[in-house]
Amino acid sequence: MRVYCASDYYHASRAAANIISAQVIMKPDCVLGLATGSTPIGAYEQLIRWYEKGDLDFSRVHSINLDEYRGLSPENDQSYRYFMNTHLFDSINIDKKNTFVPNGMEEDKEKACRDYDEIIRAHGGIDLQILGLGQNGHIGFNEPGGVFAKGTHCVQLTESTISANARFFASIDEVPKEAYTMGIKSIMQAKKIVVIVSGEGKREIVKRAFTGPITPQVPASVLQLHSDVILVGDEAALEDFPR
Ligand code: GLP
Repeated sequence: MRVYCASDYYHASRAAANIISAQVIMKPDCVLGLATGSTPIGAYEQLIRWYEKGDLDFSRVHSINLDEYRGLSPENDQSYRYFMNTHLFDSINIDKKNTFVPNGMEEDKEKACRDYDEIIRAHGGIDLQILGLGQNGHIGFNEPGGVFAKGTHCVQLTESTISANARFFASIDEVPKEAYTMGIKSIMQAKKIVVIVSGEGKREIVKRAFTGPITPQVPASVLQLHSDVILVGDEAALEDFPR
């Protein structure tokens, strides 16, 4: 694993955006695995700036997002489809038909998961996967548990995730209790993975995930087994991290 420590969030975001740009330039028809959460927003803003300058072309890029809340429609401003449209897709020249997010409105859980795995398979997997890190070590919505779930699955969100994400909703009661998420196997099959971390609040979990035992109790710890992971963070998140 390579570690890139930037002075602050702005510079960490620029570094992550640089890696994504390099991927798009080297393989214009690449498949990007994209993430939501507050952390990647800075990288997306930077990509938009470079697109507006004429430095980037997303017209042939396909994207596959990690996860979606079950029960939220694309028009719901808390859905991850809405997040991706407003934070990235609406501001670049990606063809929305080439962007994929699990269907939160599909009530049949097995169908929702099967369909999404088929989308990932039909695209030949992911070239570059962007990840944030949940405070309990989750990636996508792969929550701590007894096993590493392989494919797309429906998860019951943990209390810790519900309360961490409540800041985006009017009240904690409005946070959905379930989500569809890409599985650990799909994430691990990405050719390259960039994990973005920022802020003191992530310091402890970054250390546990990347230097502690590999266990489904800390889902991100499985990334230690991937051969091409870049951890990009700011000093606040990486201060205690061995480099
Ligand atoms: C959510 C998302 C994750 C994300 C995590 C961390 O739970 N499903 O993909 O990594 O939040 O969010 P943040 O970057 O806001 O700390």
